[in-house]
Amino acid sequence: MTMILKTDPQRPDPEVLRTAAEILRGGGIVAFPTETVYGLAAVVFNEAAVKKIFFAKMRPPDNPLIVHISDISMLDEVAVNVPKKAYNLMETFWPGPLTLILPKHHNVPKTVTGGLDTVAVRMPAHPVAMMLINEVGVPIAAPSANLAGRPSPTTAAHVIRDLYGRIDAIIDAGETIYGVESTVVNILAEPPLLLRPGAYTVEDLERVLGEKITIPEFARGYIEAEDALAPGMKYKHYSPETPIILIDPSSGDVKKMVDVVRDTALSYINEGYRVCIVATFENVDEYSSISRNAVVLGLGSRKNAFEIAKNLFKILRSIDDLNCDIAIIEGVQEKGLGLTVMNRLRKASKTIIKA
Ligand code: TXA
Ligand code: MG
Repeated sequence: MTMILKTDPQRPDPEVLRTAAEILRGGGIVAFPTETVYGLAAVVFNEAAVKKIFFAKMRPPDNPLIVHISDISMLDEVAVNVPKKAYNLMETFWPGPLTLILPKHHNVPKTVTGGLDTVAVRMPAHPVAMMLINEVGVPIAAPSANLAGRPSPTTAAHVIRDLYGRIDAIIDAGETIYGVESTVVNILAEPPLLLRPGAYTVEDLERVLGEKITIPEFARGYIEAEDALAPGMKYKHYSPETPIILIDPSSGDVKKMVDVVRDTALSYINEGYRVCIVATFENVDEYSSISRNAVVLGLGSRKNAFEIAKNLFKILRSIDDLNCDIAIIEGVQEKGLGLTVMNRLRKASKTIIKA
């Protein structure tokens, strides 16, 4: 039912691209790699195809999709009145993991934008994504290729696990590069508003914009703080089935955080729970005294936020394979990519303990 099309990520197989483009032009839906995570594509202007995306993912209809373009000439087909500030950002950061909220062109169906008059647009940097859109010849709408609520897929195996049998094809080009989704900015707001931290840091965007970007509470991942400004942000996200407890090092004291992780783990172990601890490499040994009763997974080095971001969704998905009753996860410092990581972790967690 679902065709698996394998290709090299750097030198995409023209036959694979042709096959996938043909399915898309015929109104089908295809999962494909981007530099951030795998996406699930449909031709933007084909409303019936776009509806198939919502159905396959079981995505609520008011959660809008991102429109992907492969050339700046496609921008005018989906957006109007693009502000100068937006062009400044595009020049530096496109192609790449930046999504901008712009006024919608009337040709973009409201199904794509969840009923909104704005549209989210990005130009992905992955060769397969760019060449696929080129081959289709029109912009494609694509959310992450996971079932709604699950961690975003960073490999084709993740897509197969969630969507096999529900979509027409999957292009398998190996693991994605960043492992977290694009940064979403409402550039129409004054000052610009961060809707979702992502693979590009806010600090990098601000340097080019020459002004501060507002970071609302919901962009830090606090679900209770969410409001109508960011549709789709109100839904629970990124969750494995195993309940997660996040230990948030808000005081900046890593040693204190390690103590809280250990105490929390021990209290569950003493009650007979099977515990999994997700720790940064520097701290893995700190949990060795309890590791007979707990599985410890390494997330990456505290000194390398890129590595942590890249591993994050893979680790969140692997937790469910370990048969734990509960997973306790170390948080990271909330700057640069750390903001993105903490957003995903807060949304994935059932409980957050400040340390
Ligand atoms: O890296 C990415 O952005 C990946 C790859 C596939 O490109 N895509 C992705 O799409 O993460 P998705 O659908 O999982 O997330 C899109 C986010 C949602 O949080 C949605 O609410 C927001 O973008 N969004 C889309 N259109 C919007 C709009 N008009 N106004 C505000 N937020 C919007
Ligand atoms: Mg998503």
